[in-house]
Amino acid sequence: MKKRIGILTGGGDVPPLNAVIAAAVDEAESLGVELIGFIRGWGGVLENDWVSLSVRMVPSSVGGTILKSSRTNIGKTVGGPDRALRVFTDLGLSGLIVIGGEDTLSNAFLLGSFPQALISKTIDNDVGAAGAPDAAFEPEKILNYFTLGFPTAAEKIVSFVSLAEGLRTTAYSHERIVIVESMGMSAGWLALASGLGDPDLVIIPEFPVDIEALAARTLEIYARRKHAVIVVAEGAKWKDGSYIQAAEDENKDFGHPRFGGSSGALRDKLKERLSGRIDTRNINAVNPSYLYRSGAPNALDALWAEKLGRRAMRLLAGGATGPNLLTIQKSEDGFYLAEKPLSGFGSIEELHRKVDRRFYDSAGFAMSEAGRRYMKEIVREIPDDPDYGLGRVTQERPASAG
Ligand code: F6P
Repeated sequence: MKKRIGILTGGGDVPPLNAVIAAAVDEAESLGVELIGFIRGWGGVLENDWVSLSVRMVPSSVGGTILKSSRTNIGKTVGGPDRALRVFTDLGLSGLIVIGGEDTLSNAFLLGSFPQALISKTIDNDVGAAGAPDAAFEPEKILNYFTLGFPTAAEKIVSFVSLAEGLRTTAYSHERIVIVESMGMSAGWLALASGLGDPDLVIIPEFPVDIEALAARTLEIYARRKHAVIVVAEGAKWKDGSYIQAAEDENKDFGHPRFGGSSGALRDKLKERLSGRIDTRNINAVNPSYLYRSGAPNALDALWAEKLGRRAMRLLAGGATGPNLLTIQKSEDGFYLAEKPLSGFGSIEELHRKVDRRFYDSAGFAMSEAGRRYMKEIVREIPDDPDYGLGRVTQERPASAG
């Protein structure tokens, strides 16, 4: 009988998911293995809902996931882990490829030694470890340099704020303060990436902000440039620890707040504080929201999705035991893949990566030099800063003629 392996995608979708599935199924076919895909992530495992995959079925360069997704915590369903293991036994599965963020991957800790190849994907880039905040920034020491989907989302936010392609030009033309929201629940990597597009201020969840300091800084920039571009992460917080914007989520599986709207909330706060000082009609919010996760993967995402899909399949077909996390590591020669047994980590929290003070200058509300070095390995296509003959629009407004 043919060996049978399963695959699932869970959590927020990202552009390179189909590319991973396509590579895994292609590898499976060449190894003589059957790959079955569970529908709606761990939800499909609990419901025994799956399809047998073939290369023809998977549109590798299209975003989203043909297998669909859910945020299912098998630990929250009575008997969930046992039910999952029973489904695997009944189906004759010898392993499972799990593609997900922190929540989806956390289920792997509940299944004992069942063979699993874990692939991290999230535009939040928060699965991995960057080392201690007071250690030197050494790219080679970062565990899982980036998560799948982050390169595409990072490239997008850079383009959304940049002078060449983004909101800077309309902010300048209308003398506006444009507040751009990034996704990112509790980690500010995506907002931080925007630094490569030169926004004026970047606000991330790890460094709560004081509204007085922020209003003063905004006013100072506006007085000088007559426009500003501010990036705020959806999960950003005020100094007192409260979220700039958060609501309760109806899905209690993982107990996160529901984000989305910090740009609008921040706009309203700044309007209040700057009223009488500037024309507050000119303070606007833009939330690209799911656009960060939509569409096709960029070249870096597509390349590593393919490598990860093939490696995961070979690992399980070769008889690996227990759950293993596949990570993307950095060396002087570029990126390479590594395998880390999950038994080396006590819990999923150990794999929760946040932005620390090496990467972010909180006084300047900006990406630090190390942050720039880190991001430039991921976002290679930084839009050129064109010379419009107005003087550098990013710097100052032109002196008026009269
Ligand atoms: O976890 C990835 C993510 O895109 C977060 O950045 C965001 O807060 C969340 O998913 C949104 O989730 P949903 O798809 O449930 O709206």
